[in-house]
Amino acid sequence: MKFFVDTADVSEIRELAAAGFVDGVTTNPSLISKTGRPIRDVIKEICGTIEGPVSAEVTATDFDGMIAEGERLAGIATNVAVKVPSTWDGFRACRVLAHLGHKVNVTLCFSANQALLAAKAGATFISPFVGRLDDIGLDGMEVVREIRAIYDNDESFTTEILASSIRTPLHVKEAAIAGADIATIPPAVLRSLAKHPLTDKGLASFLADWGKTGQAIL
Ligand code: E4P
Repeated sequence: MKFFVDTADVSEIRELAAAGFVDGVTTNPSLISKTGRPIRDVIKEICGTIEGPVSAEVTATDFDGMIAEGERLAGIATNVAVKVPSTWDGFRACRVLAHLGHKVNVTLCFSANQALLAAKAGATFISPFVGRLDDIGLDGMEVVREIRAIYDNDESFTTEILASSIRTPLHVKEAAIAGADIATIPPAVLRSLAKHPLTDKGLASFLADWGKTGQAIL
């Protein structure tokens, strides 16, 4: 499973990319708004930092507006993936943008049927929002499992499942088990994947014992 990082914070992206854990980046209007910078500048900088796909979201809600904004966003760099919402106009725009040769990430997906439409429309990525489904008392990961089964049933589908709205290390593990192609992970959650209290405890005791030997490896 590939790791995308879910942030528009360029310094975070640089740091995680240098560690080798960034296969792509996802942004959304809320994440861009947090930077206080123009979307064009932020997306251009991120695209220059990593080679993988960088999702940038349209804010128009009508078909014509999505096409116009999508073309503008795709023109920023060759690794931009245009994000469109899981609405009727969004699926129509996805089909056209994909035919024009752009990568398209269909976002705000909350059902398997929306994912089916995205695949039929030629989406590069479908983004089921796991955490936001959990927030309303549903099982977000169940949607990822359903999409996996549907996509595996039709070999003409090439859309990748991008598990989104990932909030916890458990989400990351479950997305990998469910067969998601990618998880987009907030930086703090990505770093927390390394943490285990028994690792810290074991390391402390090994180092204490090592100190008693008076040896040095180098
Ligand atoms: C990714 O593409 C989404 O924008 C993101 O994962 C949403 O996460 P949230 O539900 O935690 O805001």
